[in-house]
Amino acid sequence: MDIDRMEIIFATNNTHKLNEAWAVLGPGFRLLTPRDCGIAEEIPETQETLEGNALQKARYLYERTGRDCFADDTGLEVEALGGAPGVRSARYATDGHDFAANNRLLLENLAGQENRRARFRTVVALIQGGEEHLFEGIVEGRIVDAEHGVEGFGYDPLFIPEGCDRTFAEMSAEEKNAVSHRGRAIRKLAAYLHATNK
Ligand code: IMP
Repeated sequence: MDIDRMEIIFATNNTHKLNEAWAVLGPGFRLLTPRDCGIAEEIPETQETLEGNALQKARYLYERTGRDCFADDTGLEVEALGGAPGVRSARYATDGHDFAANNRLLLENLAGQENRRARFRTVVALIQGGEEHLFEGIVEGRIVDAEHGVEGFGYDPLFIPEGCDRTFAEMSAEEKNAVSHRGRAIRKLAAYLHATNK
């Protein structure tokens, strides 16, 4: 019943992220997007850390709507590249979100490199009743030497999580969510929301 569903805004218009979050949060929540709340502009993310960007996006939404909301920021941290692209993952190759160009540049920068260790790290910032909370999700893995798979988005075709033999882009949404950085961070968020909304 709608009356029992908790409404919360997720600071993204990325359908992949929305679906991933919705699948984890479950039917007890009604996820709204910034557009649903009349916010059409791109929400600024100009900080130097994932935590800073997640908080910046959540605060932007909260200031404009006064409603409970959360935002995520994710970085791919590659060991041999000193943690790059990290907080600059979206704009690694260009100013925009050009996934194909980012993947090409990552492969170029890792050419001949034996150490392929990498991890995705997501930080979720929640603002609930004006209080701020952070949740982190990490998945360790490695970068392969060519794109595999067509599911997901971003660096998914290049990343194999530890203990698996397929890239995120070769997995179903459920398989990815079960082990992914965002799945882990949003499960922590969900546990917190369930515990505080009894
Ligand atoms: P965002 O700022 O959280 O949207 O993430 C920055 C960039 O990281 C995105 O533009 C994607 O390139 C990449 N990214 C974020 N999440 C994922 C994911 O789940 N899989 C692959 N790439 C991702």
